[in-house]
Amino acid sequence: MKNTLLSVLPKDFPWADTIIYLDTVDSTNTYAKALAKTGAPHGTCVLAGAQPGGRGRLGRHFSSPAGQGVYLSVILRPECKPADLMHLTCCAGVAMCDAVEKASGIRPQIKWINDLVVNNQKLGGILTELSVNSAGFVDYAIVGIGINCCQQTEDFPEELQEIATSLAIATGNRILPVTLASRMLQALCHMDITQKKSVMQRYKADCLTLGQDIVVLRGEEKRYGKAVDLDDDGSLIVAFSDG
Ligand code: BTN
Repeated sequence: MKNTLLSVLPKDFPWADTIIYLDTVDSTNTYAKALAKTGAPHGTCVLAGAQPGGRGRLGRHFSSPAGQGVYLSVILRPECKPADLMHLTCCAGVAMCDAVEKASGIRPQIKWINDLVVNNQKLGGILTELSVNSAGFVDYAIVGIGINCCQQTEDFPEELQEIATSLAIATGNRILPVTLASRMLQALCHMDITQKKSVMQRYKADCLTLGQDIVVLRGEEKRYGKAVDLDDDGSLIVAFSDG
């Protein structure tokens, strides 16, 4: 896989020397985090064929069966404060919409804040994790992305069959994981996290949550409202029904 990936990436791809491919690893985010702790450089990329312990937000499991999707984590080392990276998941979201569109011809939408969605079904997700040093600056950020590529409906666990999709289902075509991985890596490498405003403008155009009636859950509390806007950090601005 690594050699095929290197053969489809542009010859001058800046992160080519730091690509790590593992047939199976519990979670590429966990693996990348361990590498980052030992000093792995900016742009270190970890890809896996399968992830028995794939992780999503809020401690959820991310189903990552062998050869069916792209499971990728990248280590970033921007020199900034964590507050300057609040929009990182959004930035990666727009980059992944670009990557999927280039690989498959269809542009996913984003369900705030980190779900990639096609026809209201989940195509993939993003898990961003940050570490801060003792001076209060970002030590590293891990951006982990999983995208379903080759599954047919019956390949998903039964509880996901109605809510998940893949590029094969959505396009009717066979998109090779290596083609998608190449586009994902290029899009991540070219993200400009310093351009918060323009990133968020693009995110808003892809975000299907805006304008929707939503429920905000905090512990046991439920509040009903409408998602009206996003600020430049990617926070959702909600108008509650009580005004
Ligand atoms: C979510 O759905 O909440 C986010 C899913 C993120 C999954 C990716 S797959 C590569 C990386 N490694 C993980 O364990 N998680 C992310």
